[in-house]
Amino acid sequence: MSIFQVATEIAPIAKVGGLADVVYGLSKELVATGHDVKIILPYYDFLKTKKLCAPKVICKSTFSCSSHTKIPVTYYDSKLEDLPLVLVKAEDKDHSFERGSIYGQMDDSYRFLLFLYLTMHYFETCEKPSLIHLHDWPTSFLAYLYKCDAMENSPLDPKIILTLHNMLHQGRTSKKPFEKLGIECSHLFKDDKLLDQNNPTLLNLLKAGISYADNITTVSPTYSKEIQTREFGYALDGALTQRKEALKGILNGIDHNYWNPSKDNSLKKEFPTTFQFEKIMKAKKANKEKLQTMFNLKDSKSPLFCTVSRLDTQKGPELIEHAITFSLDRGAQFFLLGSASDPLVKKQFEEVKEKYKGNPNFHMTDVFDENVARLVYAAADFIVIPSSFEPCGLTQMIAMRYYCIPIVRKTGGLADSVVDIDQDSALAVERVGFVFESKEKHDLEQCIERALALYLDKESYEEILSNHALQDFSWERSAKAYLKVYSK
Ligand code: ADP
Ligand code: GLC
Repeated sequence: MSIFQVATEIAPIAKVGGLADVVYGLSKELVATGHDVKIILPYYDFLKTKKLCAPKVICKSTFSCSSHTKIPVTYYDSKLEDLPLVLVKAEDKDHSFERGSIYGQMDDSYRFLLFLYLTMHYFETCEKPSLIHLHDWPTSFLAYLYKCDAMENSPLDPKIILTLHNMLHQGRTSKKPFEKLGIECSHLFKDDKLLDQNNPTLLNLLKAGISYADNITTVSPTYSKEIQTREFGYALDGALTQRKEALKGILNGIDHNYWNPSKDNSLKKEFPTTFQFEKIMKAKKANKEKLQTMFNLKDSKSPLFCTVSRLDTQKGPELIEHAITFSLDRGAQFFLLGSASDPLVKKQFEEVKEKYKGNPNFHMTDVFDENVARLVYAAADFIVIPSSFEPCGLTQMIAMRYYCIPIVRKTGGLADSVVDIDQDSALAVERVGFVFESKEKHDLEQCIERALALYLDKESYEEILSNHALQDFSWERSAKAYLKVYSK
């Protein structure tokens, strides 16, 4: 089986969030188990400076859908460690992939449709995959292109899988991007399977994938149920319910070599390879001291809480802010590593930063920096993840690898990966963190109080950390579940 991941992100070279980790981790596991996998992605300008095997030209071509659009394109072969990549370099006048970042441009629909048409062109002219795996709205429309557009003149019929990482972002688009590409599109705007539920004058690119992919997966079993409801489906719940036989929730994994606390250059002190409580505490202490020194935090013995997150309405910004206030009031420290793109959330946290300016128990840095993230996981005692929805969430899994106890809202993948330390129905070894259900501040406060109490109770604290060492969130199990879907 020749598997192509069609993606807009891959860790660590083109990463905005967990999707990048998933494309990397799943592909690594598939390669390790002997599968033929390639990842095709745009040749972003910022990739030039990254650790890649020198890209070699596979072929040069011209993409043309009408006499007035001719876009020169070059396809490159490269490797990220042992992962084969195909990089698509469009030479369009808008410099679509030379913008220094992946998303957030006014013409994102155009940019990613361009990437998909050029990817189709590659599959038609250079290499024929037997399975195509798509990720979220930027690549979802390829399912339609294969199943409907390409049928007549292309002998290809690969199996198409779409993974839904986040239903909030759906890629709604007018005719403009198609017209700019010189693509006749009036028939698209008559197809119910493509039209946006809320505004039928627009196409919904995510819906195109939901309608036309052979199989759909999402990134946790709980989220697969949630998205079939009005609250979490964002008007695509109906389309998903119609395809529920084809839909499966597979909990993400994390790559245990990539997130390896006993081999991590970003740490001051690495963790032992097996569970040895005293050594783990020593490593945590050394890493905490490094973080405190680096960011002018007080050299305090009190527990350190953290959040490592995109700061977005999805992530429960009100509750993150409340966790900061509440834990600082209780004498703890808080480190917030959060990057905001939403202007309102950005403003909210600028105010938080201002409010605690000079407070030696609080630090906020609004950059996206993986080295700092690694140090934070290793230094912090607790991570707060109060998401309003969370398709899977990786930070709770990564945190547990670094012996940082998660405090999570019971939603999506957080519900599937964190068992409360007081959950009687669970086995003692399964209990790893704190779980609250409502969006009320009071429930979060209770968890923080319980966390503070656990921190003082060394015996129970050790037991919970020893449970972290037993957790297996590696890709092995999840990749097997994907392979089952691939070969269905
Ligand atoms: P999402 O994909 O919704 O952002 P996930 O929990 O699935 O959430 O994945 C987040 C990924 O991004 C993790 O690898 C996490 O370590 C990383 N991350 C989040 N915020 C930052 C940041 N400010 N700096 C560095 N890494 C971050
Ligand atoms: C999305 C989701 C997150 C998930 C990640 C990887 O960004 O917000 O919950 O873990 O994709 O699947």
